[in-house]
Amino acid sequence: MKITVCTLFPEYFDRFVTTSIIKRAIDAGKIEFNCVDYRTFTTDKHHHVDDTPCGGGAGMVLMCQPIIDCLKAIRSENSLVVMLTPQGQPFHQSTAHQLAKVDHLILLCGHYEGFDERIRSYVDKEVSLGDFVLTGGEPAAMVISDAIIRLVDGVILSDSHEDDSFENGLLEYPQYTRPVEYDGLKVPEVLLSGHHENIRKWRLKESLRKTLHQRPDLLAKRSLNREEAQLMEEIKQEDEKK
Ligand code: ADE
Repeated sequence: MKITVCTLFPEYFDRFVTTSIIKRAIDAGKIEFNCVDYRTFTTDKHHHVDDTPCGGGAGMVLMCQPIIDCLKAIRSENSLVVMLTPQGQPFHQSTAHQLAKVDHLILLCGHYEGFDERIRSYVDKEVSLGDFVLTGGEPAAMVISDAIIRLVDGVILSDSHEDDSFENGLLEYPQYTRPVEYDGLKVPEVLLSGHHENIRKWRLKESLRKTLHQRPDLLAKRSLNREEAQLMEEIKQEDEKK
């Protein structure tokens, strides 16, 4: 898979591509990652990429010409062009899975007040990282690339993401490592028992508990099977006793 980030600040990604799992994925050839600078596609002497908004108002707007010429130069039949803006559809784990299947993903980063609306005619999808406004799309491109790259086959052990938060509509269960007691805080007995079925059940229950307490909105979107409903009943009774 190839990811191309279109940006005015390619240097933003220098550390991203030379650190940890992302670096390993690139070195192993699992992922190709490159940045393209919109300014390379400017045609005027001063390399302008933005101009004042038509109709007046604060800030600057990214102009059609450098952005669209950039897109035309780099896109192919296998590309999917994703524009990063606060007006886009929210990015979820399911979006990461969808985008991880694309051959060539092009991420368009905005800056200033945003893109000239006409640029949207050249875009396949518009995505937002959340209901907040960033100074530009670069942090969003980095987060989205990270979430996608870890899903690419062979980048991390697939077992490591099967239990991830959101993969089954629930938050991940609590994890512990040695020592079994730290500052009076103990690892739950069941995790030391070696009893796989009890461990599975405990993890499912704690996953449900975390989701109920932290993200009840996720439960509203998901139905519970009989075992989960029974565990949820126990959790609610335990909560009442507190
Ligand atoms: N650019 C500015 N804010 C953004 C957001 N919330 N998501 C994606 N791109 C952005």
